[in-house]
Amino acid sequence: MSKSGQLRLARTRTIPIPNEYILALHGEYGDWCYDEERTPELRGQWRKEAFRVPETAPLDFEIGTGNGLHFAHHAIKHPERCLLGIELKYKPLIQSIRRARRGGAINARISRFNAYMIEQMFTPGEINDVFIFFPDPWEKLRQQKHRLVQDDFLLKLFEAQRPGSRLIFKTDSQDYFQWALTRFQRSPYKVLGHTVDLHKSEFAPDNFVTQFESLFIRQGLNIGYACMERV
Ligand SMILES: C[S@@+](CC[C@H](N)C(=O)[O-])C[C@H]1O[C@@H](n2cnc3c(N)ncnc32)[C@H](O)[C@@H]1O
Repeated sequence: MSKSGQLRLARTRTIPIPNEYILALHGEYGDWCYDEERTPELRGQWRKEAFRVPETAPLDFEIGTGNGLHFAHHAIKHPERCLLGIELKYKPLIQSIRRARRGGAINARISRFNAYMIEQMFTPGEINDVFIFFPDPWEKLRQQKHRLVQDDFLLKLFEAQRPGSRLIFKTDSQDYFQWALTRFQRSPYKVLGHTVDLHKSEFAPDNFVTQFESLFIRQGLNIGYACMERV
C-alpha cells in the first residue's frame, strides 16, 4: 500500500487476469482464505463462522504476515488457539496459509485486508494477542503519517482486544521504534517491556525470528521490541 489514506482495496474478484495466488485464494485455499469482500462480513463472527470454535477459544491476530514463517510457527505451536492473519499482497498471503496448512495447522485463517481498516474486521473484545512484526517504517518525515502505529489505530486495536491480551511489536527502524513506543506509552495499553536491541535482551530466548528479522540481523541492524498488555 502506498498511502494510509488509500483505505479502499481493489476487489479481487474484478481482477481480469488472476494470477496463481489469486486463483488459490478462491480455489485451493478457499476454505482458509477470505478476500476483502468476505472479511468484513465475518466481523463479530470469526470464531463461530470461520474457525467453528466456542466463543471462549483464544483468537490471535497477525498483521502483515509476509511469507508466513511466524504465522505458521504460531499456529502449529498453539493448536489450542486460533490465528487470523492479514496481508495486502496475494503471494505472501498464499505462502502464509500454505506454510501453516503444510505444517498441519487447522487453526489458521488469512484475509486479504488492510490493517488500517481493522474496525471493519472486529467487534469490541473479539481478538486476543496481536502481532505486528516489521511493518513498513515510512522513514521520511513527510511519510510518517502513513505509519501503522498511530494514536487512533492503537485505540481501535485496544478496543478490538480482550482484556489481558498482548500486543507485540518489532521493527528494525530505531526511529519508528521510538515513535511507536511514545504512542504505546500514551495509549491505554500497559507497556510490559521494551528494548532497542532484542537479541541482546532478556526477551531473546522467547523470540521467534521472522523472515524480515533474519534479513535485518544479517545487515547488522538492532531490532526494537515492545510488549504491551491490553488492560
Ligand atoms: C516488511 S514485511 C514483514 C513481514 C513479516 N511480518 C516478517 O516479519 O517477516 C511487511 C508485510 O506487511 C504487509 N503489509 C503492509 N501494509 C499492510 C497493511 N496496511 N495491511 C496488511 N498488510 C500490510 C506487506 O505486504 C508485507 O508482506
